[in-house]
Amino acid sequence: MIEADPYFLGYRQEEQDRLGRQALELAADSNWLFDHVGVSAGWRVVEIGCGPQGCLGLLAGRVGAAGRVVGVERSVEQAQRAQSFVADCHLANVEVLHADGRKTGLPEQSFDLVTARLVLVNVPQPEGLLQEMVRLVRPGGIVALHEAESSTQRCDPPHHAQTRLLELLNASAEMDGIDRTIGSKLPRLMREAGLADVRVQPWVHAYPVGHGRRMLLLDFVENARVRMLGQKLIGEAELNELTALLKRHLEDPETLVLSSVFIQAWGHTTDRP
Ligand SMILES: C[S@@+](CC[C@H](N)C(=O)[O-])C[C@H]1O[C@@H](n2cnc3c(N)ncnc32)[C@H](O)[C@@H]1O
Repeated sequence: MIEADPYFLGYRQEEQDRLGRQALELAADSNWLFDHVGVSAGWRVVEIGCGPQGCLGLLAGRVGAAGRVVGVERSVEQAQRAQSFVADCHLANVEVLHADGRKTGLPEQSFDLVTARLVLVNVPQPEGLLQEMVRLVRPGGIVALHEAESSTQRCDPPHHAQTRLLELLNASAEMDGIDRTIGSKLPRLMREAGLADVRVQPWVHAYPVGHGRRMLLLDFVENARVRMLGQKLIGEAELNELTALLKRHLEDPETLVLSSVFIQAWGHTTDRP
């Protein structure tokens, strides 16, 4: 039985579709990380919170027929989507488990790499996920994370609707114990979890008109709409007005849209016996 957890982005149909597109949009950054980690043929890898696709395809290609990739996903719909993706792409070296990443049931110290992308930034008590990731890695194996830090998410010219909606999202997340600035805390959290030689790579992107992530803030507001109204952080009329204003601003090709800073951090477990 998977316990309830106020996962920040929720499971609207539109959000599940967005995560499918995200797999392609973030593939270049993830490939950079896997190059630096050195993911190679024969590796055994776990991806926690793989969503409908995540990095399963990228990892499967790298570890090859002699390797193994396990995706772990707590949402039954997302796990089913990931299973269909694996079947459609004939990824014989990948399996997807419908399980909680805090308690996967997988054998300890049996994987060369355990990774997660944009999972810790959306859940309360991320340390529990990290602990399980460390438990799964073999002595000397690697934990690699890719998370966000929302403070660089902005546009130019600045717009009060953008500032206000970002504040609301952060406040709403905080009320459920979710830290949207966790990205920059990753190296510290990883060292505290017992990982050594933690290395870091930050990325910030500009999203031009037509880019699938240009409207991301509005997508997130829609995901969190019911929650924010329920939390009495804002009334519906004001929320509608702010989203309409921001949409117009982001549709203007002259508006510069900058992403959150994405922090990739990776480190290894010490060579325990
Ligand atoms: C923002 S999505 C990212 C999906 C994918 N990693 C990617 O980058 O495209 C976060 C995913 O983590 C999953 N998730 C959240 N908490 C989880 C947990 N405790 N165990 C496993 N999956 C979890 C969510 O269901 C969701 O599919």
